[in-house]
Amino acid sequence: MTPTGSLEPALLELDELQDRAVRAFASAGSPDDVEAARVEYLGQKQGRLKSAQERLKTLPNEAKKAYGQRFNGVKQALEAALDAARSRVERRAVADDAIDVTLPGTAPRLGHRHPLAQTADELIDIFGRFGFAVARGPEVEDVRHNFDALNIPPVHPARDPLDNFYLSEGTMLRSQTSTIQIRVMESQPPPVRVIAIGRVYRPDTVDATHSFMFHQVEGLMVDEGVTMGDLKTVLRLFARSYLGEDVQIRFRPSFFPFTEPSVEVDMLWHGGRRWVEMGGAGMVDPNVFKAVGYDPERVTGFAFGLGIERLCMRRHGIDDIRLLYQNDVRFLDQF
Ligand code: DAH
Repeated sequence: MTPTGSLEPALLELDELQDRAVRAFASAGSPDDVEAARVEYLGQKQGRLKSAQERLKTLPNEAKKAYGQRFNGVKQALEAALDAARSRVERRAVADDAIDVTLPGTAPRLGHRHPLAQTADELIDIFGRFGFAVARGPEVEDVRHNFDALNIPPVHPARDPLDNFYLSEGTMLRSQTSTIQIRVMESQPPPVRVIAIGRVYRPDTVDATHSFMFHQVEGLMVDEGVTMGDLKTVLRLFARSYLGEDVQIRFRPSFFPFTEPSVEVDMLWHGGRRWVEMGGAGMVDPNVFKAVGYDPERVTGFAFGLGIERLCMRRHGIDDIRLLYQNDVRFLDQF
């Protein structure tokens, strides 16, 4: 095939190609537009520049040099236009991703106190208003504080190894917060007005109302002339403050080695058909006063120990104690 094309129209077409291509790259608004223009003008297979290159073969030899030079200029111009278009749309994409400070923020998800911790806080608050301070004691206790000083003799069934978590050398996981009564009275003279909140441990089989670990609130008031009437008043006022004005509680005669007389305190459960035990209480046994060096001829006192889980469950209508320990956020979120 003999080259037949002439130079002038070929050069004009190169100019036109450059014009169009530069405009196409300049008006491309997105990475997709830029890519489409690239394929159209600079594509390796069917791009327009490629066709312009093919055209070289159709030109007579003396025209080839001039065409080739102009072709190279056009090619450089197109590549520069492509680079410019690319960086322009990339900058825009970055700007689109940037933080828009005028948008409302995403609120962080805040946690809250566990319902049992909330209950404990509220108990501290209520009894605080009755003038009770907060005392603390260790969860690993010695048998003197857990039993002996509380008038629970070595032969007492409550000390059975099957009913307690004994550790080595006369220590154990405390089975009741009454231990703290002893610790407080050992450390200060009367009058005493304290509550203590904490975990207690018993090898109970876990079910909807039992756990091998639970929480108690212990109360102790010692002074001259403290009576059973004071005990009943304090517990009734407490129940009303925490569970509501309409709550009903009742006292049943009972026995605890560290109180005489002793009572069990029940609350009427939701629906009003069932009494549920809240805990035990009574007038501090003179033997307990003797064990801590108080004079039972001079002072009297009352004490009580209530289950915190049960109070929390009655308050919120929770029917299974295990829910309180599973830490399932779907449950905890409700409080
Ligand atoms: N410590 C007893 C228990 O865990 C509850 C109790 C009863 C505590 C009578 C007291 C009390 O302070 O006076 O079953």
